[in-house]
Amino acid sequence: MRKIGVAVIGLGFAGSNLHLVSYLENKNCKIKAICDVNRNYSKKFPPTLFGEFTTDYREILGRVDVDAVSIATPPKFHYLITLDALKAGKHVLCEKPFVMTLSQAKDIMVAEKKYGKHVMVGLTFRYLKPFFEFKKILSDNKNPLISIRCTEFELLLKNHKWDKWEDWQFNPAMSPGAALSESGTHLIDRMRWLLGSEVRKVYATTSGYENNHKKDHSAFVILHFANGVIGEISLSYQVFSQYQNDKALCLTEIFGNDFYACVNYQDYFKSNPSITLYDNYQWKNLKLDVDPKNPAQHEIDAFIQSIIQNKKPPITSYDGYKNLEVLLAAYKSSKTGKPVTLNE
Ligand SMILES: NC(=O)c1ccc[n+]([C@@H]2O[C@H](COP(=O)([O-])OP(=O)(O)OC[C@H]3O[C@@H](n4cnc5c(N)ncnc54)[C@H](O)[C@@H]3O)[C@@H](O)[C@H]2O)c1
Repeated sequence: MRKIGVAVIGLGFAGSNLHLVSYLENKNCKIKAICDVNRNYSKKFPPTLFGEFTTDYREILGRVDVDAVSIATPPKFHYLITLDALKAGKHVLCEKPFVMTLSQAKDIMVAEKKYGKHVMVGLTFRYLKPFFEFKKILSDNKNPLISIRCTEFELLLKNHKWDKWEDWQFNPAMSPGAALSESGTHLIDRMRWLLGSEVRKVYATTSGYENNHKKDHSAFVILHFANGVIGEISLSYQVFSQYQNDKALCLTEIFGNDFYACVNYQDYFKSNPSITLYDNYQWKNLKLDVDPKNPAQHEIDAFIQSIIQNKKPPITSYDGYKNLEVLLAAYKSSKTGKPVTLNE
């Protein structure tokens, strides 16, 4: 079987550590070309493994041996590069947050149909293995669900390059926002996916968004789902490191009538993951095997598989659209202090 020719555009953190590394591991594809506007990357990636380096993504789109491209640039550029790639007949894996506006997301969905190619959105953390077990538990559960809570507290800002204010994450022309846009998107996706329901109303407060989101490091978001469940996101990048003994606190919990389930997925990277479950009036601790593949590898494998099988990818442009809808509503709510109702 011919290998799928791929190219990666944007070779920073995500492009290098998530996309390139995972494509190298996938036996059904071959990296044909790489691109970054920063020419320094040309020295980092040998052409024998990564193909031709260019600073202009349009050169990649002109290549007949490239079937699919990964876009891992700052969000501002996702729209134009995705549209150009679809027009050039390429499948696209586009990082989250999908694009900057809902009308851009709609344009892309139209272009997908017009050019007959698919777009997958990089909501990578859907592929954390404990959540597949979690979803199965939820589909077997007969108790009415009441609420879902995702908590992510970690110390990123002090150690991370984001403390340079000029970085794109803090520039409203380059990205919808900072903490909620970067990490909250994964949590919004998890809730939609686990519940199989869409958000109808959003109430949020975020730090510093009104100040050009320069200090947008924490967010608290309440989501009303169509199925009656209430979601709560508590997210902070600035919790001091002695909290939780230098570890991040990453919990996803679901509460129902006589039902509770929780994944603490920080442990997942370090030891055997487990799910705490209260069901049938009993507490259980389900030990899961450590997943030999990381979420990014699962994501890239699923993308390549969808191309081989000529099927829609598992995380679609529609998911990217619905995700962005909630994200933008949360920032709007934070700005106005009022809840935002979403259309059916
Ligand atoms: N799925 C995940 O878990 C995950 C994790 C981190 C980042 N991301 C996403 O990946 C994207 C990139 O984030 P990052 O942390 O890698 O940023 P980064 O700043 O480390 O890298 C972005 C790269 O894109 C390059 N670039 C900018 N404009 C370009 C253009 N027009 N053409 C080619 N290259 C261009 C920059 O020079 C830079 O090297 C963002 O959308 C971010 O939200 C996703």
